[in-house]
Amino acid sequence: MGFKATCLALLIAVLAVFTSTDFTVLISLSSLRDLSLDAETFTYLSRGLSPLFGQYVGRHHHWRRHHHKYPDDGQRTASICDNFPPDIPPPETNTTVTLCVDRNGCCNFTTVQAAVDATGNYSQKRTVIWINSGIYYEKVTILRMKPNITFQGQGYLSTAIAWNGTANSSGGTFYSGSVQVFSNNFIARNISFMNVAPIPNPGDKGAQAVAFRIAGDQASFWGCGFFGAQDTLHDDSGRHYFRDCYIQGSIDFIFGDARSLYENCQLISIAPPVPPGQKLINGAVTAHGRTSKDENTGFVFMNASIGGTGRTWLGRAWRPFSRVIFAFTTMTDIIAPEGWSDINDPARDQTVFFGEYNCSGAGANMSLRVPYVQRLNDTQASPFLNMSFIDGDHWLMTTSRHNIDANFSISNQ
Ligand SMILES: *[C@@H]1O[C@H](CO)[C@@H](O)[C@H](O)[C@H]1NC(C)=O
Ligand SMILES: *[C@@H]1O[C@H](CO)[C@@H](O)[C@H](O)[C@H]1NC(C)=O
Ligand SMILES: *[C@@H]1O[C@H](CO)[C@@H](O)[C@H](O)[C@H]1NC(C)=O
Ligand SMILES: *[C@@H]1O[C@H](CO)[C@@H](O)[C@H](O)[C@H]1NC(C)=O
Ligand SMILES: *[C@@H]1O[C@H](CO)[C@@H](O)[C@H](O)[C@H]1NC(C)=O
Ligand SMILES: *[C@@H]1O[C@H](CO)[C@@H](O)[C@H](O)[C@H]1NC(C)=O
Ligand SMILES: *[C@@H]1O[C@H](CO)[C@@H](O)[C@H](O)[C@H]1NC(C)=O
Ligand SMILES: *[C@@H]1O[C@H](CO)[C@@H](O)[C@H](O)[C@H]1NC(C)=O
Ligand SMILES: *[C@@H]1O[C@H](CO)[C@@H](O)[C@H](O)[C@H]1NC(C)=O
Ligand SMILES: *[C@@H]1O[C@H](CO)[C@@H](O)[C@H](O)[C@H]1NC(C)=O
Ligand SMILES: *[C@@H]1O[C@H](CO)[C@@H](O)[C@H](O)[C@H]1NC(C)=O
Ligand SMILES: *[C@@H]1O[C@H](CO)[C@@H](O)[C@H](O)[C@H]1NC(C)=O
Repeated sequence: MGFKATCLALLIAVLAVFTSTDFTVLISLSSLRDLSLDAETFTYLSRGLSPLFGQYVGRHHHWRRHHHKYPDDGQRTASICDNFPPDIPPPETNTTVTLCVDRNGCCNFTTVQAAVDATGNYSQKRTVIWINSGIYYEKVTILRMKPNITFQGQGYLSTAIAWNGTANSSGGTFYSGSVQVFSNNFIARNISFMNVAPIPNPGDKGAQAVAFRIAGDQASFWGCGFFGAQDTLHDDSGRHYFRDCYIQGSIDFIFGDARSLYENCQLISIAPPVPPGQKLINGAVTAHGRTSKDENTGFVFMNASIGGTGRTWLGRAWRPFSRVIFAFTTMTDIIAPEGWSDINDPARDQTVFFGEYNCSGAGANMSLRVPYVQRLNDTQASPFLNMSFIDGDHWLMTTSRHNIDANFSISNQ
């Protein structure tokens, strides 16, 4: 309580100091400490962040009502680390090393990349990188030689890593990720990954902007946020588990050729609203990249909820053997009645595997679906409906045991 109240007071004080006109507000980044915002405000704030100034520059919003001055502003600023948790970082054990990142300098590292660089090469111990609240404006890469890293944030609406690379600026979509992980056994908990490049206009080329790329095997994500527009989450390769995550985007916003199970995730489309009566489809939730029938990859969504704006496909056949299954998922009417796209290549109708099983909501009405969709029965659905799809019984329980908070359960619906 004390910590949160101090931070809020700080924010208020900073606002009072920096308010220059009725319409423009500058918020120093450090004032974003420990604020847990709603997802929309969080996206809005991060999109206004300028790395050149280290400040948020944006239109005056609902912050306005907080414009009163705090008498002891200077003193509070001086004691910004006073409430820093005393038990962070915990001492090294036989199995775990903890490194601490705080952008205000309250512990050893001020950037996430510096902590990543300091982890042992090919370490068999788990390195927990504990990241304090705030938005870390940096591009982060974890090379293959750094396995067993955990990013531990303070909540997906409190801690985020953001950058603004695009396909054009990064030498291709695949390298545009704000955070890119090439190593195995990566874990992220309670943290967000954002790409804050300008949202592309229809037809723009080279504006794809990945927030996160996972190209290592046996990765898991618990309570994480992924914020972007086109190509938000590059679920590239390997076996992955996503639980209780928030994933926002517009076109192909979960794409790649991984074998992944998503449980209890929110998939939020930010494609522009389509006026009633127009047939336009302007988004796709997934674009899976399976290239042959011998490849055991695919995206499975269990108990997801799909909402937001625009009119969107559940998936596009990015590659001929694209495989995506939605089970027990609620869908609003943003899902186009046909549901799926073969990207105008009818040959792919024979080779894709697009399945739906026990979904609900206005968007789940299958009466106008494309003919090649699979209406899965219980037997057909069962191989996809638990963690054995990603061999999770072999690795997921083991890696998860190294989390700070062991208080979770994996359901076997
Ligand atoms: C940690 O390793 C040391 C040295 O190998 C050993 O003596 C100790 O028992 C180990 N502790 C635990 C908790 O496993
Ligand atoms: C972090 O800082 C503390 C105190 O300065 C120091 O004892 C510790 O070794 C540092 N840890 C790392 C991983 O740099
Ligand atoms: C890891 O390897 C790289 C490249 O070989 C080297 O530059 C770096 O110092 C090593 N880091 C550690 C922590 O050993
Ligand atoms: C570390 O990674 C290696 C291979 O990437 C894996 O075999 C090992 O089990 C991992 N250790 C921990 C503690 O996760
Ligand atoms: C990222 O932001 C910086 C600072 O605002 C800007 O100079 C740069 O052009 C942006 N990059 C892209 C690809 O939008
Ligand atoms: C990307 O680069 C191409 C070629 O230079 C250019 O035509 C296009 O406008 C650029 N896209 C964006 C979003 O800047
Ligand atoms: C389904 O997901 C919601 C959160 O989106 C969660 O509250 C609920 O417990 C989940 N149901 C099951 C059966 O896991
Ligand atoms: C799924 O739906 C089918 C009918 O489409 C029904 O027979 C089955 O009982 C449902 N399964 C579950 C677990 O709800
Ligand atoms: C599903 O869509 C069809 C065609 O639009 C419509 O006739 C039917 O009433 C819908 N079913 C439900 C349960 O809404
Ligand atoms: C499910 O569908 C498959 C393929 O059409 C069929 O062989 C099987 O008998 C069905 N199983 C059930 C339980 O309906
Ligand atoms: C997962 O599903 C498979 C296929 O239906 C089944 O053989 C296995 O027992 C299930 N595993 C768990 C852990 O429930
Ligand atoms: C993650 O956040 C949730 C919700 O805020 C909280 O209940 C949980 O304890 C957190 N877990 C970790 C490991 O940070």
